[in-house]
Amino acid sequence: MRDSLDAADRQRFAGSYAHRKSALSHLAFGVSSTPRATQRPVAIVMERGDGAHVVDVDGNRFIDYALGYGPLILGHTPPSVIAAIQNELSRGLRTASVHRGEAELAELIAACVPSAEQTSFVSTGTEAIQLALRVARAATGRVKIVKFRANYHGWADGIHVGNAIGQDGASALGQDPQAAQSVTLLDWGDAEQVEAVLDSSFAAVIVEPVAINGGCFEPPAGFLERLRTATQRCGALLIFDEVITGFRLALGGAQERYGVTPDLSVLGKALGAGLPISAVSGSRAAMEVLSSGRLMHRGTFNGNPLSVAAAIACLEELRDGHNEIYARMDAFAGRLCRFLSDRATLRGVPVRARQAGAALQIFAAEAAIETLRDTAQVDKENTLLFTGALLREGVQTLPRGLCYLSAAHSLADIEATEAAIAAAVDAVAHAKAA
Ligand SMILES: Cc1ncc(COP(=O)(O)O)c(C=O)c1O
Repeated sequence: MRDSLDAADRQRFAGSYAHRKSALSHLAFGVSSTPRATQRPVAIVMERGDGAHVVDVDGNRFIDYALGYGPLILGHTPPSVIAAIQNELSRGLRTASVHRGEAELAELIAACVPSAEQTSFVSTGTEAIQLALRVARAATGRVKIVKFRANYHGWADGIHVGNAIGQDGASALGQDPQAAQSVTLLDWGDAEQVEAVLDSSFAAVIVEPVAINGGCFEPPAGFLERLRTATQRCGALLIFDEVITGFRLALGGAQERYGVTPDLSVLGKALGAGLPISAVSGSRAAMEVLSSGRLMHRGTFNGNPLSVAAAIACLEELRDGHNEIYARMDAFAGRLCRFLSDRATLRGVPVRARQAGAALQIFAAEAAIETLRDTAQVDKENTLLFTGALLREGVQTLPRGLCYLSAAHSLADIEATEAAIAAAVDAVAHAKAA
C-alpha cells in the first residue's frame, strides 16, 4: 500500500497540518494520548461533532466510527446527555462533594449490569483496573493475577504487559520491569491453560470477555464458563474488563450477552457517553473490602457531578431503547464487515474485517485472520495507510482500524460508508497496479 496522495492531502487538510506543526512547540508530541498522532495522512483537528459526524478545522466532514475511542455510544450531540450536563452546570461544579447522583448512578448500573450489586467510581479505565486488582488482592489475601496475551487493561505499570501477540513483558519505555512480576500471561481463549495454572495462590483472573483490543474476537464456546468454574474452584476472583464491552455489546455488556457473571466488572468508556467516568462493580461479597471502607479508595475527581449526570442520562437512554439500539448497531456493523470483506476480495486487496457486536476491526493482512494468534501477521503500517484512505473518502475510524457503531448512525450513514469503503479499496487496488 502506498501513501500516494500527499500533495492533495496537504491542501485538503492544510489546517490540521499547520496545527500539528505549531502544537509540537509546547504540547509534548502534539497530542494528549500517543495513538492519536498515528492517524494518516495527518492527525485531523476536530472543530465540532454532530450526531455520528465530525467536522475538522478545514471544513471536511466525516462519518465517525472512532467515537472518541469508544465512549460516544449515543454520538457526539445526544440531546438528553447535553441537557443533563447543562442542568448540572447551572448548579456549579461541586467537584469532590458528596451528591445524590453518585448513588443514583450506582443503582442504575445495578439494574443494567448482572454482576453490579455494588459500585465505586473513578475517572479512567486505567484507574478502575488498578482498583479492581486491589480489591481482588485485598479480598483474597493473595497477590498473583492471570492476564491474557493481547488483552489491554490500561497503561499502569503493574498490568501493562503482553499487550500484543509475540510481545510478552513490559512494552512501554520507562515502565518498571518489576511491577508486573505477579502477572502470569496466558493465551486468551485457552481455558485449559488456565485450569492447569490456577491454584490457591492466585487472587484473580482478569479478562477482556470479548477480545476487542486484539481485533474483535468473540470468546470460544465455553471459555468464559470455564474461567468462571476454575476461579470459583480455587477461590480467585473473576474480573471482566468491560471498559469497551460494557453498555456496548448489550445493556448489561458481555456478561449479559454470554450469560456468565464475573465477581468484578470494570466499566468505562460508554458509561459516561463521552465524559470521563469509570467504575468497578461487583457482587456484595467481592466488593465487601470497599463497601466496609477497609480498602482505601481515593481520587479528587471520582464521581464528579458532571460525569455522573452524563452517565445517568446515557444509561437511561440505553435502558429505554436497548431492544432497538443494540440490534441496529450489530446489524450495521455486520453489514459494513461483509461489505468490506467482499469488496477487498473482489479487488484483490489484502484488507480484512472482523465484527464483534457493535465493534468492527479492519486489518491489512495477506493471510486470513481467524484467531488472536493470527494477528501477529497483521501489517500495522498498511492498516494505518488503509484507514488513511478511508479518511480521504470521508470516514474516520481509529487509526489502527478499530471502528465503533453508535446509536446515532443512520442507514444513510451506512450506505455512504459503503461507498467510501468501495472508493478506498479501489484506490488501493489502483495504487497496487500502478
Ligand atoms: C479493555 C480496556 N481496559 C482498560 C482501558 C483503559 O481505559 P482508559 O483509557 O480510560 O484509561 C482501555 C482503554 O482503551 C480498554 O480498552
